[in-house]
Amino acid sequence: MNTLLESVNLNKTYRVDARNEQQVLFDVNLRVEAGEFVSVMGPSGSGKSTLLYALCGMDRVDSGSVRFAGGTPESLVTLETLPEKELARLRLERMGFVFQEIHLLRNLTVMDNVILSGYLSGRRPRGEVNARGRALLERTGIAELAGRRITQASGGQLQRVGICRALINEPDILFGDEPTGALNSRASEEIMDLLTEVNCDGTTVLLVTHDVRVAARTHRVLLMKDGRLVSEQRPGPVEDDDEGEGEAEIGRREAVVGRREAEIGRREAVVGRREAALMEWLRDYGV
Ligand SMILES: Nc1ncnc2c1ncn2[C@@H]1O[C@H](COP(=O)(O)OP(=O)(O)OP(=O)(O)O)[C@@H](O)[C@H]1O
Ligand SMILES: [Mg+2]
Repeated sequence: MNTLLESVNLNKTYRVDARNEQQVLFDVNLRVEAGEFVSVMGPSGSGKSTLLYALCGMDRVDSGSVRFAGGTPESLVTLETLPEKELARLRLERMGFVFQEIHLLRNLTVMDNVILSGYLSGRRPRGEVNARGRALLERTGIAELAGRRITQASGGQLQRVGICRALINEPDILFGDEPTGALNSRASEEIMDLLTEVNCDGTTVLLVTHDVRVAARTHRVLLMKDGRLVSEQRPGPVEDDDEGEGEAEIGRREAVVGRREAEIGRREAVVGRREAALMEWLRDYGV
């Protein structure tokens, strides 16, 4: 496996004013392999967002290092040594970001929001960027919204626009800070279906989430407490899990409701079991 992103002994302190400071990251060591689907859980204020911003180079740390394989797996670049301009370009071209509050440009259409950073990167001709934008909207099921202003879309649809925008430059990694946080459970499931597809296509995904159901669908769950990574769990890819319902039972259900529905049902059962296991794990750590 190839390491895509790693942090070594990250420490960060916020200075609230001249007298008060608070250390929020303590020697955080983390490695994400190319192709992984990782989530970070932990209580509010434990430093999850701070960690995510440090990992994507949006925020500087006091000490420690973040390394990223910017296209060539053998050579990791150290983010904090990059000049500001190069860091910005690396973020634009190699990283995608999806947040709970979707920072879309209100005066632009859905399509223009999606393609803007494709134009900015200048890596591909505009015609190609437009075609990719349309394909992404198509794939995320919001093609008919292309010409609408973003004020005319629902929360779940906007989150899809955010994901399309994050994918326009074909990033190596997609970072999400509670990308399903503002959504109801159905919309949240749909976004997770989409992120799972994106991951299956080869994009590494790193999410912060409070939702055990979301975490249960990722490959590896990290637990943060008081600025430290204290534990991790590997629920494993849902598709590979064969335990649970007997084959006979699945066969009966397939006959009745069709293969697709039986598969969804089985996946639900698996996610449900993983969710329960994660809840127990979180309780063990007092979360
Ligand atoms: N700009 C800032 N200045 C000072 N303190 C900050 C700043 N940003 C965050 N903090 C503090 O750092 C700590 C970690 O914040 P962070 O946003 O990383 O937590 P979190 O785990 O993402 O929480 P949540 O789940 O509520 O989003 C908190 O105590 C927060 O108050
Ligand atoms: Mg946060």
